[in-house]
Amino acid sequence: MRDPQKFWNKLAKRYAATPVRDEAAYREKLRRTRKYLTTQARVLEAGCGTGATALAHAPHAAHVEATDFAENMIAIAEKKRAAAGIGNVTFRTAWWDELSGGYDAVLALNFFHQLPHAQAAVEHLASLVKPGGVLVASTTCIADNSAIARKLAPVFATIGVFPQLSVFGREEYLGWLDAAGLEIAESWQPRRLAAWFDVARRPGP
Ligand SMILES: C[S@@+](CC[C@H](N)C(=O)[O-])C[C@H]1O[C@@H](n2cnc3c(N)ncnc32)[C@H](O)[C@@H]1O
Repeated sequence: MRDPQKFWNKLAKRYAATPVRDEAAYREKLRRTRKYLTTQARVLEAGCGTGATALAHAPHAAHVEATDFAENMIAIAEKKRAAAGIGNVTFRTAWWDELSGGYDAVLALNFFHQLPHAQAAVEHLASLVKPGGVLVASTTCIADNSAIARKLAPVFATIGVFPQLSVFGREEYLGWLDAAGLEIAESWQPRRLAAWFDVARRPGP
């Protein structure tokens, strides 16, 4: 398997220049996320890419700490932040398993299925959600998609098209959230086979 950091670093410029595939669905996910934010909220994003979502949520939170293990992604995000003069977003390079602390909202968008250890990542990011806080995730459950997608995923991983796709189903994924002590507050799938958008809440004040 190719070095995943190298893969994403190489992709960063192209990723930044590629328009969002479904702009309406993206906007709807931003809108749904904001229902759970307040201007006191401390937000963590794992796998923030080139930072568009973190910057979009900045006016709706006290602070957004946006992280990604690809320094080229973070460099582009930081340039955008500086150009926009946004003061309450911090971009930094970090692997998901290096993240710590307690947050009102943890964001993992188009993230878990891109990792080799998706379940461990769900458990770890869930552990960073404070009581009353939420994990907001957009996740493709590849095992529920077509047989060809299921078969191709490991092939893609081997040849490095996607360095690390994890194949899991919706039921399995929801089980991980449940085992991590989170309760689904809302779920939305813009269209069949698309990534699921889930807000999972840690019970508490
Ligand atoms: C598909 S992109 C999603 C980016 C952004 N969240 C979005 O929705 O556009 C996945 C991101 O996860 C990052 N990533 C992959 N593995 C990671 C890891 N182990 N730790 C931290 N970031 C990782 C990649 O660098 C990439 O920016």
